[in-house]
Amino acid sequence: MIAEKVSKSQQLIAKEDQYGAHNYHPLPVVLEKGEGVHVWDVEGKKYYDFLSAYSSVNQGHCHPKILKSLQMQAQKLTLTSRAFHNNVLGEFEELLHQIFGYDKALPMNSGVEAVETAMKLCRKWAYQVKGVPAGSAKILFATNNFHGRTISVISASNDPLSRKGFGPFLEGIEAVPYNDLAALEQKLTQEPNIAGFIVEPIQGEAGVVVPDADYLPGVAKLCKKHNVLFVADEIQTGLGRTGQLLATYMEGGDTKLRPDIIILGKALSGGFLPVSAVLADDEIMLTIKPGEHGSTYGGNPLACAVAMEALKVLIDEKMAENAQKMGQLFRDGLREIAKENSIIKIVRGKGLLNAIVIEGDENSSKAWDICVNMKENGLLAKPTQGNKIRFAPPLVINESQIKEALTIIAQSLEGF
Ligand SMILES: Cc1ncc(COP(=O)(O)O)c(C=O)c1O
Repeated sequence: MIAEKVSKSQQLIAKEDQYGAHNYHPLPVVLEKGEGVHVWDVEGKKYYDFLSAYSSVNQGHCHPKILKSLQMQAQKLTLTSRAFHNNVLGEFEELLHQIFGYDKALPMNSGVEAVETAMKLCRKWAYQVKGVPAGSAKILFATNNFHGRTISVISASNDPLSRKGFGPFLEGIEAVPYNDLAALEQKLTQEPNIAGFIVEPIQGEAGVVVPDADYLPGVAKLCKKHNVLFVADEIQTGLGRTGQLLATYMEGGDTKLRPDIIILGKALSGGFLPVSAVLADDEIMLTIKPGEHGSTYGGNPLACAVAMEALKVLIDEKMAENAQKMGQLFRDGLREIAKENSIIKIVRGKGLLNAIVIEGDENSSKAWDICVNMKENGLLAKPTQGNKIRFAPPLVINESQIKEALTIIAQSLEGF
């Protein structure tokens, strides 16, 4: 019998399978290099990256300026902990203030840690400022949310897969349907101890669910009326992804919405390091005192230097504007494809955060099979919630690349 040749990819996948936890189900592709909108696998095949590490690599893979800032800072000082000051943290916090206009920033590492931080701020503020009786503060979420994986954050999830076998869950968490102002109003009217409403401006993991135009302005008004903090989780939607620096800027016509708390992560480092931050004004931020919250790596000089450069290139290279233009072109193209191929039921999104809903229910394997086909044809994307495929390329993509990507998508759908 002739032994079948095992590819390098197969060998590496087998290694992960044997020695790594099985908490992910990746597409069968092993990447080793990235540049701009492209990634290469270990066999040297080139792909369009239409996931961008779940919207983390907005600035494009290995952006040379961010890389330079990483190299320069890594040679000088990487970590001090917050037991001492470092010479980059204040500069980073000042830049966040200048760009987003909040009094203060609290830097963390992963996105979920920043969400946890926001939850803690909501509770502290509720007790110290709003006057909620001790131990009674509640935090409200929207159903079908995704805010990360820690036990307190999955306590707010209604996804059975995220929760099963991980209970008991956190107390004081409630949920209302997303994009439903009447339900929110009813809940806020009935329940006086709500500290904050934490919501994604567009629900990314749920399949890029874009709310009605009046939803976020309505949320802002209702939160204000009921003295509840409006907390926007912009970890996936922020930093240019939806065609504006923040997705909450798009709502409310000329006046930008100003949530009480903004949560940033992912693209805050352009894909180089886990860097997240919570932005709020003094009334909220100063409710947490020294020793009450922290993280060894949060605010480390390497992360701060990288994040400053990641923010600068995003703005200097007008990536949000490009996301708006290229996003429109891309959705128009997807709608043309949908006319030819009825397997696409819905095309939706904003800027370069888009998705198609594929015929069949959430248990159908069609979306997965299409993603495998696209991979074969040179484009990487991943199904979400079974029957949806999210398309979120780096924001540096240009018109001819969008057109080529659309050709690959159309070709990959043939035969379905
Ligand atoms: C909206 C939102 N919040 C929070 C998170 C969690 O971020 P991390 O995976 O960095 O913990 C994610 C990740 O996908 C997200 O999309």
